[in-house]
Amino acid sequence: MKNIIVGILTVGVLALMISTFMRGGAFQGGEHAKVIEDFGDSMGENAATAAVDEKDDRAKEEEQLKALRDKAGNVGAFPVSQAYKSKCASCHGVNGSGFQNGKKLMGPKLYGQDAEKLYTDLIDFKAGRKENMIMKGLLINLSQEELKTFADEIGEFPARAKAQE
Ligand code: HEC
Repeated sequence: MKNIIVGILTVGVLALMISTFMRGGAFQGGEHAKVIEDFGDSMGENAATAAVDEKDDRAKEEEQLKALRDKAGNVGAFPVSQAYKSKCASCHGVNGSGFQNGKKLMGPKLYGQDAEKLYTDLIDFKAGRKENMIMKGLLINLSQEELKTFADEIGEFPARAKAQE
């Protein structure tokens, strides 16, 4: 007798478990879970639109930056001496902006610096008063006149860019 009752109860509990499981009930949180899920979906959509907006902003920023850099001198057509192009442009950029095709180069921006200050920097690098192995190595074989020519040329960049507009 006892066994029969236990048997019926077991079957009943099993049946209940199976039916709730099939309806996606208790275990998954039932209706509430669905509401939360829907809510989650719409949140996800908002997050996605926000991400797109942010991307647009960043693209705009990039464009503005690029325009600024281009303004600092049209890279392709910027008129520089062959000497500057071959000795300095690889690290400081053809227009001295320190950028090439939107990529930051190794050397700092020279564009807009005063010829006098540039000349002092170059002399100091060469003399080792301003320490930089790269610049020192580069300038070691250049005469003061050549350094002056480079400084004067770079100092002229803004005027050259203006003349190009
Ligand atoms: C291999 C890369 C490289 C090349 C080529 C190069 N430079 Fe530089 N230059 C640098 C780096 C790096 C610095 C930053 C050094 C520092 O401040 O410690 C620098 C700094 C300078 C500075 C000081 C700028 C500042 O604001 O402090 C001047 C001026 C300069 N370079 C001019 C030139 C000239 C002119 C040439 C060509 C004759 C040249 N450089 C070639 C890498 C280079």
